[in-house]
Amino acid sequence: LRPVAPGRYEITQRVAEIEVLPGIRTPMWTYDGTFPGPTIESRRGRPVTVTHRNELPVPTVVHLHGGRTPAASDGYPTDLVLPPGWADHHAMPDPRAVRSVGTREYTFPLDQRPALLWYHDHRMDFTAPALWRGLAGLHIVRDDAEEALGLPSGSRELPLVLTDRAFAADGTLDYPSIDATLRHRPGVRESFLGGVLGDVILVNGAPWPVHEADAARYRLRLLNASNARHYELEAVTDDGRRLPLVQVGADQGLLAAPVTHVSVPIAPAERYDVVVDFAGVPVGGRVRLLNKLGTGRTAEVMAFRIARRAADDSRVPPVLSADLPSWGPPSRVREFAFSAGQQAGGHGWVIGGRAFDPARTDVTVRLGDVEVWRLVADVHHPVHLHLAAFRVLSRGGRAPLPHDGGLKDTISLRPGEAAEIVTRFDGYRGRYLFHCHNAEHEDMGMMANLEVV
Ligand code: C2O
Ligand code: CU
Ligand code: CU
Repeated sequence: LRPVAPGRYEITQRVAEIEVLPGIRTPMWTYDGTFPGPTIESRRGRPVTVTHRNELPVPTVVHLHGGRTPAASDGYPTDLVLPPGWADHHAMPDPRAVRSVGTREYTFPLDQRPALLWYHDHRMDFTAPALWRGLAGLHIVRDDAEEALGLPSGSRELPLVLTDRAFAADGTLDYPSIDATLRHRPGVRESFLGGVLGDVILVNGAPWPVHEADAARYRLRLLNASNARHYELEAVTDDGRRLPLVQVGADQGLLAAPVTHVSVPIAPAERYDVVVDFAGVPVGGRVRLLNKLGTGRTAEVMAFRIARRAADDSRVPPVLSADLPSWGPPSRVREFAFSAGQQAGGHGWVIGGRAFDPARTDVTVRLGDVEVWRLVADVHHPVHLHLAAFRVLSRGGRAPLPHDGGLKDTISLRPGEAAEIVTRFDGYRGRYLFHCHNAEHEDMGMMANLEVV
């Protein structure tokens, strides 16, 4: 996306008909008419302003996921950008909410480590259907130090946005409750407690794409932007070899040093930055990116067709980043249980026994404080914290898993698991959130308020 002036962007949210499946037009909710939305590329520490114009038939909210953003621009779920005329006919859920009509300007200081961030809708009770209909895009933050490492770049750096979708016969997106909230629809809700899954896997909006590649190293910048689907990715050649996936980064940027995996699990909203080397694959051969957690066609994600031999001067240096913070002892330890819960009208999802309420402050932390949070899950919950990047300290009382390294903003809690994270609440005062990023769980109440004072 091109800036309209240095550091200034304009995005129009509108309905567009997109050819996702060959020869069929799918009406989607889009940022600027594309799915995913346009990618913004920024430099660390250079503020960016994005003006969003809402031409959709519903209120929207924009959140920059992974952004270290002042609360006023963080996209609180009731800080709505209303379509003109909306407020005349609808009650507003939250007296503290900031409302804009038609357009809203979001300002991002981007005073943070380079990372693959993404922006998406965050409207209270309606985030899941908005994501499903297309409101998601990438925002990449870069800096000189990362570029000097010599990792694969240019056409060999591929951001890959993974989503699953279901389509009706006429090409329209199939979502179980059209423009109604799962949270307030008991009958529908009960059948989608695990979240909404699709049977078509899209990468950057295309079903099972095949990418022509050089026999060289590639940097795959993976984002799972699916509502509820988990993937475990592996790169497999025609003769059944698994290519090593060399992880160089996590949600919040580069690791201290590379870590080699055979497969990489990726929960909703997580990002993995991996380098894979196609040098040993014959020209004409294929490397398939497979999903070990899928069945049938959801076990396939995309493929690379090796088109040519090519020179490769990229490298994966043994030290990637020396500026990872190490935080002192925590001033507090807190515990949060993520679980199924009873709510008015049926079952839902709760944190510490309570469903989301914008009028209630759940946690108050002091700016600059280091805290350890113990997160406990009944079933799979990818838990996301706004504002503050964290490290994983432990899982199930043991050391973190090999893919838990680096700085994160989303942790995939496995069924029955307790994990500990440590963070420092740096940056800004104000009202933020933490929540499950299974988007249906979020809409069904699994979200809480965090006040930084
Ligand atoms: Cu990606 Cu609170 O969200
Ligand atoms: Cu976020
Ligand atoms: Cu969940």
